[in-house]
Amino acid sequence: MVLLEVKDLKVHFKIENGWVKAVDGVSFTIDKGETMGLVGESGCGKTTAAYAITQLLPSNGYIKGGRIFFKEPERVTALREEYDRRFSDAPKERDKEAARLKKELEQRSKELGELVESKKQLEESKSIVPASMAKRLDELRAQVRELDQRLSALTCSYDLLAKSMRKDGSMDDWNREIRKVRWQDISMIFQGAMNAFNPVFKIGDQIVAAIQLHEDIDDDAARKRVSELFEFVGIPQDRMDNYPHEFSGGMKQRAMIALALALSPAFIIADEPTTALDVITQDRILFEMKKLQEGLRMAMMIITHDVSVVAEVSDKIAVMYAGKIMEIGPTNMVFKRPAHPYTSGLLGSFPSIKGKKRRLESIPGFPPDLVNPPSGCPFHPRCQYAKDLCLEKAPDGIEIEPGHVAFCHFSKELWERMRRDV
Ligand SMILES: Nc1ncnc2c1ncn2[C@@H]1O[C@H](COP(=O)(O)OP(=O)(O)O)[C@@H](O)[C@H]1O
Ligand SMILES: [Mg+2]
Repeated sequence: MVLLEVKDLKVHFKIENGWVKAVDGVSFTIDKGETMGLVGESGCGKTTAAYAITQLLPSNGYIKGGRIFFKEPERVTALREEYDRRFSDAPKERDKEAARLKKELEQRSKELGELVESKKQLEESKSIVPASMAKRLDELRAQVRELDQRLSALTCSYDLLAKSMRKDGSMDDWNREIRKVRWQDISMIFQGAMNAFNPVFKIGDQIVAAIQLHEDIDDDAARKRVSELFEFVGIPQDRMDNYPHEFSGGMKQRAMIALALALSPAFIIADEPTTALDVITQDRILFEMKKLQEGLRMAMMIITHDVSVVAEVSDKIAVMYAGKIMEIGPTNMVFKRPAHPYTSGLLGSFPSIKGKKRRLESIPGFPPDLVNPPSGCPFHPRCQYAKDLCLEKAPDGIEIEPGHVAFCHFSKELWERMRRDV
C-alpha cells in the first residue's frame, strides 16, 4: 500500500540572478513500512525534497509543479469516520429531542402560568393560599428552568456541540484530537540536529514535553516512554536527567532519534541521521532504527550522501543528481548492478565497510550550477560514456529489471556490462 507518492515534483528557489532548480521533476513512492534511501552528493536537492514533503520550505522556495500525496494512517481515518458517524446522525436526533423538550416546556409553562394566575386571584380576594399550591409552584418553576436550559443546550450551534463530545462521551474537542493525530504522522530528524536541544533544560524533560504537547499523558507515563526509547537507542536511562552539554555527539544524535520516534509516526524522514557519528555507532543506530521501524511498520526515508549508510537498511534506493533522480530500484539490484554511470561512480567512491571492498574511484569534476543546469542529461559533463545524444536530450526512465529504473540513454549497455562483471 502506497503511503507517500511524490510525482514530478519541482521545487525551485528564487535568488537574485534567477532560479535554483533544486528539485526538478522527481518521482517516487514509498509503501507502508518501507525504507527508501535517498542518496546523492551534497547539493543535489535531497533536503529540499524532504522540506517540500514536510511543508517546511524556506520563504524563497516554491513548489513549481507536481504533487505530493500522503495517505493518512488508519488511526486518523478511524477517528474521522467515528466523528462523521456521530455528527451526521446527531442533528436528526437533536431535532427530535428538541421538539419533545419544547412541547413539554410549553405544557409546563402553561400550567405554571395558570397556577400563578390562580394564586394571584386567591391573594387578591384575601383568601389563604394552600401550602400544596405553593409547593407545586416551586416544583413547576424548577422544571421550567431545567427544561429551558436543556433546550438551549440542544439547539446551540453544531460546532459548539461537536466540541463537547469525545469517544467516551466526555468533554473534549474532537477536531483538535484529529489534528493532533495528523501532526504525528510525519516526523523528521533534521540534518545537523546535534544542536536541536535547548542547552538549559534536561534532555529527558525536553522529550517528555514534546510527548505531552501531542498526547494527554501524565509525567510518569511520559517519562516511562522516554526511558524505553532511551533503552532502545542505547542511552543509559540515568542519563535522562543530563543536560545537552553532558552528552557526547553520538548520544545527542541518539536522543534526537528517540525524540523523532517518541510519537510513533507513520512516516519518518531522517536527513543525514548519522553523518556526525563514527562508523561503528552509525551502523548500530541504523540497525536499531531499522528494527524499530519494522516493529512499528513505519515507513522511512533515509537521506544521505554516503551510500554505504543505506546499503544495509533500505528496501529501495533512489539516486539523485542535480535535482533529478538518476536511478531508482530495489537496493540489492541497484547495488549489485547499477545501470547509471553516476551510480556506479558513487558506489565506487564509497567502499562498503562490510563485504568485499570495491575499487575506490571518485567521479571527476563537480556537480553543476543549478541555476543554469547542463542541457540534456545533467550528468553528461562528468560522464565517461557521454555521447552527442546525452547533450541533446534528457533521458527518459528505462526499466531494466522489475522496479529498477535508470535515467540514462545507455543504461541497458551499462547494466549488461555490470551483470557480466559481478
Ligand atoms: N533557501 C535557498 N535558497 C537558494 N538556494 C538554496 C536554498 N536552499 C538550498 N538551496 C540550493 O538548492 C540546492 C539543493 O540543496 P539541498 O536540498 O540542501 O541539497 P542536499 O540536501 O542534497 O545537500 C543547492 O544548490 C543549494 O545551494
Ligand atoms: Mg541536505
